[in-house]
Amino acid sequence: MTAVNNGRARLVILISGRGSNMVSILKAIDEKQLDANIVAVISNRPDAAGLISAADRDIATAVVDHTQYDDRNSFDSALAESIDRFNPDLVILAGFMRILTADFVNHYSDKLLNIHPSLLPKFKGLNTHQRAIDAKEPEHGATVHFVTAELDDGPIVLQAKVPVLVDDDAKTLAKRVLVEEHQLYPNAIKKIIQERAL
Ligand code: GRF
Repeated sequence: MTAVNNGRARLVILISGRGSNMVSILKAIDEKQLDANIVAVISNRPDAAGLISAADRDIATAVVDHTQYDDRNSFDSALAESIDRFNPDLVILAGFMRILTADFVNHYSDKLLNIHPSLLPKFKGLNTHQRAIDAKEPEHGATVHFVTAELDDGPIVLQAKVPVLVDDDAKTLAKRVLVEEHQLYPNAIKKIIQERAL
């Protein structure tokens, strides 16, 4: 059966910082590479620069500040409440630096996507670029995957590879990977939208 795209899948994007992946998704939508609508950008940090980029483009923004909650469960409940107000088809983690509870992840089951800066299953967790250099990997990259209760686990949607060069440090390698991330995330979202005819 050929998937028919009825158009305008609703995306809620979660960020914690600069939001360059969020901007790349927006650019793909503007350039009609991706038939979707960012209905909200939500940050756990009030000072996330990506909130300004989103508001400048008239996208609804919200902050659910994790420092205002006693524990992970109460933060995750408040976050889910904020997300669900926008009735998303997909929830996109884009540099969202919080570990989520199993209840939160299960609530979104196959609607929750993450981008991780490594070729998973290699280098789960933090400092992926330095770890790839230290391990003398010939190549490194990024992965878009569905989120499950296990950290940086879950079914892989797409990956992009880059070479690791002899004189790379974590910064130069991160920069090379980020260029790929900005293509990879819109492509992965497009793939899911097409497969599911969202
Ligand atoms: C990216 O490298 C992403 O892979 C990681 O955090 C970074 C976020 O960057 N999860 P940005 O906020 O999208 O610019």
